[in-house]
Amino acid sequence: MNGSPLLQVALDYISLPKALVMAYQVAPEVDIIEIGTPLCKAAGIEAVRAVREICPDKLILADLKTPDVGGLEATLAFDAGADMMTVIGGATLATVEQALAVARQRGKEMLMELTGVRDILERAVEWRRIGVERIVYHREWDAQSAGRVWNEADKVTIRKLIDMGFKLTVTGGLTMELLPFFADLPVSVLISGRGIREASDPRAAARQMRLAIADLWSVPSGEAHQA
Ligand code: 5RP
Repeated sequence: MNGSPLLQVALDYISLPKALVMAYQVAPEVDIIEIGTPLCKAAGIEAVRAVREICPDKLILADLKTPDVGGLEATLAFDAGADMMTVIGGATLATVEQALAVARQRGKEMLMELTGVRDILERAVEWRRIGVERIVYHREWDAQSAGRVWNEADKVTIRKLIDMGFKLTVTGGLTMELLPFFADLPVSVLISGRGIREASDPRAAARQMRLAIADLWSVPSGEAHQA
């Protein structure tokens, strides 16, 4: 797919009913619905199944951040109706390979989640070698709370990963105000959790964010972004 980045909403709830209400509300205005890690832990893989039932036509990502037993966790996610699942960057290559193998067999996707990874570019060389295609570049919640701000160094790393052939998802406290900062990067997906969920009108917030993305990433012909 070419064009502007897709918008993914993160359902980082610990209550499945609340997550389902939000999913139903914002689904028409987003491209991908993420079953957030807290929801996967609080409600289990049934959360994926429940969101799939009320959003039969949406792309769904299970943010399992799988640390081990990659094949089994990927199978659980895809059996429940997910189109994509994540493996944590610190997982062994064996775990990544097993999750990737299941994703390929099922025609689904596995994404590397960079939470906590320091040697990103070194690890990325290994991931590329075994065929990983997608990476989630993340400013973690706790790092954000501790004062970490998005900066030019993040963009340099993101661009290098894209140049290596990865499709990039960017996440971590993204708001309308932050979108222009990333607009010169051909990223594939932008995730917003709190920026949508905590708005007074989440559906309107998602719509505005999607419109802003389309506007900011509209590029002259011949410079289409990846997706
Ligand atoms: C936390 C996550 C979140 O889903 C991700 O950070 C998006 O949420 P927000 O936009 O609220 O930061 O993976 O580990």
